[in-house]
Amino acid sequence: MTCGRTNAGRDQTVLRNQAVLWDESISRDKSVSRDKSVPRGDSVPRDKIVVRGLRKYFPVGGTLLDRILGTQPLVKAVDGVGFTIRDGEVFGLLGESGSGKTTVGRVVLGLEPATDGEVLYEGRPITSGLPRSLRRSLQIIFQDPHASLNPAMTIFQGIEHGLLIHSSLNRAERRERVYAIMEKVGLVPPEVLAHAYPSGLSGGQRQRAVIARAMILGPDFVVADEPVSMLDMSIRARILKLLLDLKDEFGLTYLFITHDLATAKLICSHVGVMYLGQLVEVGPARAIFEEPLHPYTRALIQAVPVPDPARARDKALPHGEIPDGIRPPSGCRFHPRCPEPMPECGWEPRDLQDLIDRRLLELAEAQGRTGPAGFDVRMVEDEANHSLMVANKPALLRLIDAERDRETPLGRAIESVEVGQRSVKVRFRKPVPIPDVSIGDRTVRCLRVARD
Ligand SMILES: Nc1ncnc2c1ncn2[C@@H]1O[C@H](COP(=O)(O)OP(=O)(O)OP(=O)(O)O)[C@@H](O)[C@H]1O
Ligand code: SF4
Ligand SMILES: [Mg+2]
Repeated sequence: MTCGRTNAGRDQTVLRNQAVLWDESISRDKSVSRDKSVPRGDSVPRDKIVVRGLRKYFPVGGTLLDRILGTQPLVKAVDGVGFTIRDGEVFGLLGESGSGKTTVGRVVLGLEPATDGEVLYEGRPITSGLPRSLRRSLQIIFQDPHASLNPAMTIFQGIEHGLLIHSSLNRAERRERVYAIMEKVGLVPPEVLAHAYPSGLSGGQRQRAVIARAMILGPDFVVADEPVSMLDMSIRARILKLLLDLKDEFGLTYLFITHDLATAKLICSHVGVMYLGQLVEVGPARAIFEEPLHPYTRALIQAVPVPDPARARDKALPHGEIPDGIRPPSGCRFHPRCPEPMPECGWEPRDLQDLIDRRLLELAEAQGRTGPAGFDVRMVEDEANHSLMVANKPALLRLIDAERDRETPLGRAIESVEVGQRSVKVRFRKPVPIPDVSIGDRTVRCLRVARD
């Protein structure tokens, strides 16, 4: 299997198949050449997709008044993401659930409008929506084949649908095209399966139908969003091989979204690792898998199971869950979970609150209680002043002293402690911006990497 461009050297069979599956009559707009067999004359792959400063915020919750005034809380699902996908490559977008991978894919395809930023397809801006002439060139394969096929349509109708909208082919030509792509993706015999409904197919067959539907218009850029994650292990490899075969045969470029690093390592030439709406590391897949630089990437890679018991790995992902995107952690968003943070990484009052909560639970456990115990702590965060007001001075002071004595990153991030009559005010250093560092052909967002 290969991730590179393989436009040259196709045999006659390939070209014949391509001729059946693709001709310019599909599109009313002939401005974009689809003949992938014609060499471009340049050895350097072109940029297929360029994403710059992409942001996508979703309004969530809030009151009716908030909705009227537009002051609803916003989930910052994607918050300043940039990367380039070269023609013919498989670019993997990795990260835990909720990191914003699908949102990036949907915004890149124009299925969701961007809040800010820019997406270029072959140099043409498409951020404000895909022009009709490009709609067939950019396609998506969804994660759940069951949900993404219309249960009321036969497999033939589902695959044919795009042709009805985007081509001027007659019925016989459409049938020929649908059967050809069905054969190509392994839905055989097409004459029989064409009349089946999605519920009558296996999971693997349904995903093949989803792939056929995405391929019927001869796209050249495909977002594959977790295309095998809902399939049995036995079928995954075959579907992945199918996707790569199609890529090689038709000169496709993929944005491959997955949280499965083993799959990404196998098929991607470049990867971007996302955490809470931001990219923390981007670069060639081989280099990143061999020597991950960002602590989050390292943790993800260490958590990948290895079949060799002699090489057992530390499978623990960083403690805690990915925080919510409405108010992401300040400074480095990963700092509350980072295994090697520094005092400058963005410690804030909320972290002290979490620490106090953890200590309370530990205390309760030590005392054999099930609920919170120990001391009563009332905490009020002052977000504007980056500080926390906490009642119950002695207990809090003991805890702060311990953090400072042990010189933990949080302890060292505390700028001042003001002891008042009824409470203690703890002020933290203001967070510093976390830079994107270029190291060779890699970009890493981490203060420690920047300093090393
Ligand atoms: N339409 C929406 N409205 C509100 N919030 C949304 C919407 N779509 C996504 N989000 C939120 O944006 C964040 C990123 O979601 P997204 O689905 O892009 O993550 P993901 O990395 O694809 O996760 P997964 O691996 O679970 O598919 C999540 O917090 C999610 O709840
Ligand atoms: S900037 Fe780097 S070292 Fe600091 S918390 Fe983030 S990942 Fe960890
Ligand atoms: Mg997703």
